[in-house]
Amino acid sequence: MFAAVTLLVFMCLTATSHADHHQPCHTPNMTGLMSVITLKGEVKAFGAFSYDSMGKKLRFRSNESYPTNTSIGLDLLMFFDEGVFYEIDTKNQSCEKKALQCTLHPLDVPDEATYLSTLNIGSSSIEGEGLKVNIWTGSMADSKGKYSMSVTMGCLPVSTFYMCESSSFLISIMDIETEIKDPDLLLVPSLCQGQPLEETPEGTVNSFLNEFM
Ligand SMILES: *[C@@H]1O[C@H](CO)[C@@H](O)[C@H](O)[C@H]1NC(C)=O
Ligand SMILES: *[C@@H]1O[C@H](CO)[C@@H](O)[C@H](O)[C@H]1NC(C)=O
Ligand SMILES: *[C@@H]1O[C@H](CO)[C@@H](O)[C@H](O)[C@H]1NC(C)=O
Ligand SMILES: *[C@@H]1O[C@H](CO)[C@@H](O)[C@H](O)[C@H]1NC(C)=O
Repeated sequence: MFAAVTLLVFMCLTATSHADHHQPCHTPNMTGLMSVITLKGEVKAFGAFSYDSMGKKLRFRSNESYPTNTSIGLDLLMFFDEGVFYEIDTKNQSCEKKALQCTLHPLDVPDEATYLSTLNIGSSSIEGEGLKVNIWTGSMADSKGKYSMSVTMGCLPVSTFYMCESSSFLISIMDIETEIKDPDLLLVPSLCQGQPLEETPEGTVNSFLNEFM
């Protein structure tokens, strides 16, 4: 009896996952470049990233911003599963450890994202001149904003548009290689070791996106 019920449940699960072609996919390990640009045309950040898809770890080091140079030297190491991140300042050799209140980030499709559509960017009929992407949408944690993320058929992130009350920006991902080229970048640097967790001031939300708002 138990075996029959188990089998039936299993068959139903299999049937639904076959019927629903649009389960959010998960990105692989990656190394690449990322840019953060606001709708006002400011380049908030540009630089290299490393992403561990199983360990849910991200390192992003921005080395360009325009017209203000505020994020030159911005260096973030985020541990999404543990809910902590390090803000490293290479200029003055400082490191702060903070709690993450929101784990939304542009390098993976959130589990609760909703499939919107599939688009052909460029040409679908000329070989090598097109890119087919799936568009996923969802709400930000505080529901005060929305995002729209495009990923390739193989689940590589292309770009994510975040629309928030305070600011809207586009994050683009380029030059992806599906491996972590320097695993040391995802380890806590000696500068940060033993760092106490900073208090999060009342009303502050720490997240990858909040670094650019
Ligand atoms: C910033 O870093 C990226 C990746 O390492 C590199 O391609 C780019 O040339 C750098 N830009 C500057 C201004 O150093
Ligand atoms: C992704 O990178 C992590 C950390 O380097 C490694 O442990 C893991 O095996 C990698 N996963 C794949 C699928 O290569
Ligand atoms: C950023 O700009 C300010 C004001 O223009 C300047 O004083 C500072 O040295 C610049 N910092 C870097 C890292 O370029
Ligand atoms: C290092 O610089 C950052 C921003 O420039 C500043 O917030 C921080 O307080 C500085 N840390 C130290 C130890 O001077």
